[in-house]
Amino acid sequence: MARHPMMAANWKMNKTVREAEEYTAALLPRAADAEEEVDVAVCVPLTCLHEVGRMAEDSAVMAGAQNFYYEDSGAYTGEVSAPMLLDVGARVVIVGHSERREVFGETDEMVARKAKRAVEADLLPIICVGETKEERDAGGMWEKVSDQVRQVIEELEDAGGESIVFAYEPIWAIGTGETATPEDAQDAIGRIRDLLRETKGDDFADTVRILYGGSVKPENAAEIMAQKDVDGALVGGASLEVESFVELIWAAQNAVAQTEN
Ligand code: PGA
Repeated sequence: MARHPMMAANWKMNKTVREAEEYTAALLPRAADAEEEVDVAVCVPLTCLHEVGRMAEDSAVMAGAQNFYYEDSGAYTGEVSAPMLLDVGARVVIVGHSERREVFGETDEMVARKAKRAVEADLLPIICVGETKEERDAGGMWEKVSDQVRQVIEELEDAGGESIVFAYEPIWAIGTGETATPEDAQDAIGRIRDLLRETKGDDFADTVRILYGGSVKPENAAEIMAQKDVDGALVGGASLEVESFVELIWAAQNAVAQTEN
């Protein structure tokens, strides 16, 4: 079963509303050209989300957030909820990015609850998992990653494979310029898919999209996208310039064309 690839931008803590407007205006027509082959998401700071969500409404581009809290309202100073994100046009949300886990102390349990709440609210969560350099060097990559994946799927219960996206992001490759080799990406992502097959069955494993993230750029995207189990990318640095993000969308589009031939 062919999965629709996804190219997702993660702007992190970058761009003013005006910069976001310019970027989105330039991106929309370009993403429309790839609409049939690639799902495009742009996960922006909350201050830009309302405007990007408005501009992208009814377009091929899915506006998204980078985080949220799993309660719907209440005394949670500084947080926003799933209904609030939907209210400003978000269709996707990144959950459990390693920067949230490392800098802001998010636990596996919080990540799993956020993933569950996003699915219930009809927001597509891009759930990030990945190991540190020390964990990889000590041979502990799979223990870490499989544990993170398991905690999420236990919490999700009967959600279908199409209602979530995983992103395998080795922490040592994020923002460092050091990309995992295409083989490393395939190895981890293939194992995640096998684990999902064992625990959730064929339908789930065949429909769930698993992205790679960590220093993806136009120069290395084609090789990574060509891997059998890699369904796209979550991109930080190289998504900040619209031209380089568009090149990544093309790389995903070409990867589709190559599998079809
Ligand atoms: P990077 O970030 O592409 O800048 O490495 C990826 C991410 O953190 O999602």
